[in-house]
Amino acid sequence: MTDKPRVWVSRPTFPGIVARLEPHFEVTVEPEEHKFSSSELAARLATQDAAIVGLKDRIGAAEIAHATRLRIVANLGVGYDNLDLDALSAAGIAASNTADVLNESVADYAWALLLGSARRMNAAERWLRAGHWKATEFKAWLGTDVRGRTLGILGMGRIGQAIARRGAHGFAMPVLYHNRSPLPDDVAGALGARYVSRETLLADSDHLVIVVPYSAESHHLVGAAELARMKPTATIVNIARGGIVDDAALAAALRAGRPGAAGLDVFEGEPNVHPELLALPNVVLTPHIASASLPTRRAMANLAAENLICLLDPAAGRTPPTVLNREVLARRL
Ligand code: GLV
Repeated sequence: MTDKPRVWVSRPTFPGIVARLEPHFEVTVEPEEHKFSSSELAARLATQDAAIVGLKDRIGAAEIAHATRLRIVANLGVGYDNLDLDALSAAGIAASNTADVLNESVADYAWALLLGSARRMNAAERWLRAGHWKATEFKAWLGTDVRGRTLGILGMGRIGQAIARRGAHGFAMPVLYHNRSPLPDDVAGALGARYVSRETLLADSDHLVIVVPYSAESHHLVGAAELARMKPTATIVNIARGGIVDDAALAAALRAGRPGAAGLDVFEGEPNVHPELLALPNVVLTPHIASASLPTRRAMANLAAENLICLLDPAAGRTPPTVLNREVLARRL
């Protein structure tokens, strides 16, 4: 045993990250992906000074009840609805996320889903692989156009802006957005983005991308009534969180052809996917991988490590960069 602080990493990570942590910590890395139960999490956290966790690890009062040494939980994701920030703050435990390092990869991926669903790429590929291609048909696989059509962004944070930038500058698209508050004029002006009501956004977008964080307020923000406002030719893309879109309502709407297509990377109750979505041809489904490029996943793991090192090793001489509950840090000074 050493007297170094202990860190538990709840899922496999890159060798470079372990090498970076080891001079500062006694490191335990889970060798395989596993969905930890509440009591498994509580047992592991009880012996640690720090933890790097993933989005499927739900951490609240019960999981930290015996974590008397725990100083920081670093979340591998920009969203942190898996963490009960109030409970962590009350216990004096810092929480961090991986803000910003994933913006561009997630924006690229939103575009992959948008283009793939608008042009029916996945269904066409499945058809080809199944050996159905006998001759190229002039009127088969007709999708919708993207360039010059109206791009809608629901949730205009930094990822929303990165998606809008690609649409405005790469695809000559007028950009509409809805957000809790409008962007400063210079930021909106650079994107050519116009603030509209949620109703107008739904009705006027040819391609709508959802990028709002999950919270009690955003639960089922897009349900049957909202989907019914969309154009029959529209596509909808969700790269934010399951539960923001009502998946049962979306499946029914896609079956009825309004909106025309969807690209989904996140699902209510994932890894389960609504069975009706699985059966539909006009939806591209992927397993929550929008940030999964190698450089970005490395950057996320590095940022989590940086938060731990800055918080627990005074010799680092740096402030942890992406702590969410900074009042906990102030209390410890
Ligand atoms: C992924 O969903 C994230 O929040 O980073």
